[in-house]
Formats: sequence, structure tokens, C-alpha cells
Amino acid sequence: MKNRVPIQNGSDNYLPERRITGIGASPRKNGNSDILTKHILNGAKGSGVAAEDVHLRDYQFQPCIGCEKCRKDKICTGLNDGMHLLYPKIIDSQGLVLISPTHNYNVTAWMKAFIDRLYCFYIFDNNCPRGWSSRLAGQGRKAVLAAVCEQETKKDMGFTLEAMRLPLEALGYEITGELTVFKVFDRGEIKGEKEILAKASKLGANLAESLR
Ligand SMILES: Cc1cc2nc3c(=O)[nH]c(=O)nc-3n(C[C@H](O)[C@H](O)[C@H](O)COP(=O)(O)O)c2cc1C
Repeated sequence: MKNRVPIQNGSDNYLPERRITGIGASPRKNGNSDILTKHILNGAKGSGVAAEDVHLRDYQFQPCIGCEKCRKDKICTGLNDGMHLLYPKIIDSQGLVLISPTHNYNVTAWMKAFIDRLYCFYIFDNNCPRGWSSRLAGQGRKAVLAAVCEQETKKDMGFTLEAMRLPLEALGYEITGELTVFKVFDRGEIKGEKEILAKASKLGANLAESLR
């Protein structure tokens, strides 16, 4: 039964819907990441796919505490917090968009905590090191990644894109597009970058069209 995922309620015949969830990780409301998120998702909506934006700053949630309860329970049961409002959105959406500003050469603490809380989607065996697979794999899930920073080189952006790409690929997402934005610092400064915003809309449209 490839293409099937066990979820919290014990159902083993779940397939994601043709919809997109955009996860923004900036602490700054109406900042550059928010504007980028809006353009990516508007591009997707323009291609006829429902898309919702979520800002991690609006949710109260903790980083993973490594309790490993999810190995048995197949979802996080060690923490009862705002991530449980986000899990259904992730499970149900075939498309995912992750957007983070660079904070100290990396994603923000919100994005790192969010990604770590996706640990509950892994299946591990009992070998050492443990073999693993993902309950989200094999379902045609696709994602777009975007990163924004103040400085002007890839080095200044550090691991921001990789910190999102590697875990999402491990979870079974195909990355259909990535966008890096340099030299924007002030809140909302990205509004003047018409070419970048057009690229963002196109990425969203391409993601939408790639969903089955
Ligand atoms: C705590 C913190 C750390 C940052 N670290 C970096 C960095 O390592 N490299 C960089 O180019 N910009 C860095 N910046 C600048 C932000 O990436 C930049 O202002 C970005 O446009 C913010 O996006 P936002 O408006 O979506 O929050 C940092 C900003 C903050 C607040």
C-alpha cells in the first residue's frame, strides 16, 4: 500500500488534497517574508489551487523534546501545543511552501522548531544507526522554498535554504522551486523588487500546476 499514510486517527488510507500551505517563519508582521509568502501563494491561487498562509509567530509551540513517543503514536503526543493546529494542514496539503528570513546564517528559530516537530512523520527501525522512512513519502508531495536576507552573497545567507531543503527532501517532498532574495533589510522593503515578486508568483503557479 505505497501512497498510503497512517495518521493520528488510525486511518491508513489517507491521501493529501490538491492544496498548498505556506509556512512563514519571520517574527516580523508585514515584513519581507510575509510579502514574499503572499506573492507565492497568490501565484498558486491564480492557477486554481487553494492556498493558505500560516505564520509561525502566531502559534504557541515548543521545539521537539526528543521524547520519542511519536515512534509508537505516529504523531507528536509528548507536547500538547499549537503544532497540533498545524499538523492537519501539513498532512492534508499536497503542496508546501516554506519561507524564512536568514537569522545568523540560518533559518529563524521558529522555522527550526517547526521542522524538528515534523520528526513525528518518520518511521524508524530498531537497528543502530536506525533505518528510516517517512509517512509523508510516496504521495506526490511537492514544495517551494524561499529565503530572504540583508546581505548580498550566498555566504551571508549561510545554511538558510539547505536547512529547509534537506529535511523536506528526507520527509518525501520534491522541491519544485527555490528563491533567494538578497539586500533587503527594512520591513516591507521587498515591495519595491518587482522582478523578484514576479518570480515568486511564478514559483507558486508552477507548484500549483505540478500538483496532480
Ligand atoms: C536576529 C537576526 C539575525 C539576522 N542575521 C542575518 C544574517 O546572518 N545574514 C543576513 O544577510 N541578514 C541577516 N538578518 C537580516 C534579515 O534577514 C533581513 O532583515 C530580512 O529582510 C528580514 O526579513 P523579514 O522582514 O521577513 O523578517 C538578520 C536579522 C535578524 C533580526
